[in-house]
Amino acid sequence: MNAADFDRWAQGELARVESALMAWVPADAPVDLGAAMRYGVLDGGKRLRPLLVLAAAQAVDGHADAALRAACAVELIHAYSLVHDDMPCMDNDVLRRGKPTVHVKFGEANAMLTGDAMQALAFEVLTPEPEQVPPALQARLCRLLARAAGHEGMAGGQAIDLASVGRTLSEEELRDMHRRKTGALLRASVQMGAACGAPAEAAWEALSDYGWSVGLAFQVVDDILDVTQASETLGKTAGKDAHHQKPTYVSVLGLDAARRYAGELRERAQEALARSGLPHASWLSVLADKVVDRQS
Ligand code: IPE
Ligand code: IPE
Ligand code: MG
Ligand code: MG
Ligand code: MG
Repeated sequence: MNAADFDRWAQGELARVESALMAWVPADAPVDLGAAMRYGVLDGGKRLRPLLVLAAAQAVDGHADAALRAACAVELIHAYSLVHDDMPCMDNDVLRRGKPTVHVKFGEANAMLTGDAMQALAFEVLTPEPEQVPPALQARLCRLLARAAGHEGMAGGQAIDLASVGRTLSEEELRDMHRRKTGALLRASVQMGAACGAPAEAAWEALSDYGWSVGLAFQVVDDILDVTQASETLGKTAGKDAHHQKPTYVSVLGLDAARRYAGELRERAQEALARSGLPHASWLSVLADKVVDRQS
């Protein structure tokens, strides 16, 4: 198993995700809605969450159609969260995935509706005819995604984020915010992939712990990249956290300690994976490294 094997696997999986999204995200929604949805989700982003779903599903030899649907659904929720995150009432950003943000291109009302429609589409994708995915699995996937996206997870974390502007958070408060706003959806990606198979309880718990560590590491690194990288590399405006007075791992711990913490979380993720005892978890291991080593 080497880097070239991983890249080959990831390219194949991402091609399947891309063509499924192309088919499922409608071009013909009324007025500008279809164009704005496709602009916001197709052909952009690192697609980390779909890869986590598919790597976890492969580790448990899970239901392939359900896993592809889960991969697309979580990316739709993520893309919706970005469209809203960038709006003037939130982070007021003009650049995303190397392009003007959805509200800049299509207007604010359309951006709000685009996010709404992407969220609904995510759950539609998870609920096909019963012959395609067993209804009990559909319900489980919907529940995992809904809990990670809503008040306990992403939306709750975003509420804390907005309420924390200009405040000094304790490390514990910061961890809670980051786990919710970003960690929850990454952990749910791993859990949704795992739910496509039938892992033993201990393996499920270990994969969930892996998901928490990778999820938190992801946002710690996002905070680091905001101060260390250029906008052209990130495809989004660099330096905006300090500009908006957002508490981040860099503002609370400092850059060096934030880097060390990301490294610790990587170790914890790898330990959890080893604890899972799953023999085919090497893509998850590579993904944990990529989350911490990434430059964009
Ligand atoms: C950005 O997520 C928003 C955060 C949760 C930090 P990504 O860095 O995964 O964004 P894309 O999908 O690659 O554009
Ligand atoms: C966003 O966090 C988390 C989401 C739920 C979208 P950020 O506001 O730090 O994400 P970027 O840096 O704009 O991508
Ligand atoms: Mg934000
Ligand atoms: Mg933002
Ligand atoms: Mg950020």
